[in-house]
Amino acid sequence: MSANESRNASTKGSPVNAPLLDVQGVSVVFGGLTAVHDFSMQVETGRIHALIGPNGAGKTTTFNCISRYYQPTTGRIVFGGMDVTHHRPHQMAALGVARTFQNLELFAELSVLDNVLLGAYSSVARTPQARLRAYDAETIDFAGHLIDRVGLGDFHRTAAKNLDFGRQKLLELARALAIRPRLLLLDEPAAGLRNREIESLDRMLTELAERDGITVLLVEHVMQLVMSISHRITVISFGEKIAEGTPDEVRGDPLVIEAYLGKGAAEAA
Ligand SMILES: Nc1ncnc2c1ncn2[C@@H]1O[C@H](COP(=O)(O)OP(=O)(O)O)[C@@H](O)[C@H]1O
Ligand SMILES: [Mg+2]
Repeated sequence: MSANESRNASTKGSPVNAPLLDVQGVSVVFGGLTAVHDFSMQVETGRIHALIGPNGAGKTTTFNCISRYYQPTTGRIVFGGMDVTHHRPHQMAALGVARTFQNLELFAELSVLDNVLLGAYSSVARTPQARLRAYDAETIDFAGHLIDRVGLGDFHRTAAKNLDFGRQKLLELARALAIRPRLLLLDEPAAGLRNREIESLDRMLTELAERDGITVLLVEHVMQLVMSISHRITVISFGEKIAEGTPDEVRGDPLVIEAYLGKGAAEAA
């Protein structure tokens, strides 16, 4: 802890906090391809932290390491002061790490309510069948409340597959919230959303951090959202960290502008 504390003590404008999440020198090699190389970042409790970078930079791979879907080739992942490098995904859920997926992973045939309930039990039972048997009234109430909170109040009984894309993303958010997360990992939550939906996502995430004390780590290409809600931004390019700081610091960083030349240049500028 003391090393982390001194690292954070030098962080401009933020209080001294032990990081909730500490990614230490993580590398991921797929066959011959190094997708992530010696990557480190710290996420402080209660903050909204964005991980940005061009397509293929290694953002989702990093998320998959943190949520324990991928095993890093080297490096360590520490959550709440505990080394979780070899934890299983359901153990991460039990510790309070929830995630959403870049390509939605919902149970298409099941209702909105059932999808959220499956999220609620993801830390206690591994198979969907076992989770469905575990339903209790209090959890059903809580799931209903989350569905209302993300704005899906009219759709409790609607099959997930019958929601439009934006609403499916909101459903994924409700499902992630159902584990009562300490850390929420969101992979491109604004992709495919309309402007009005992005504004409401902006408000929702800020409220989750400020009112509920949930720490948020998000991967996002919609710069308007990233710059508006993030306390801190880490930039990854070709698997390596190239910049880190406040939105203002990162926005003007020449390495960041260069990394975004081409596809994302307009968004970054
Ligand atoms: N399961 C996998 N097997 C092989 N290569 C992968 C796998 N997942 C990701 N990659 C590769 O790793 C690199 C980083 O991918 P990814 O983490 O998805 O990038 P990002 O989310 O930043 O767009 C890419 O070159 C991608 O093709
Ligand atoms: Mg990705």
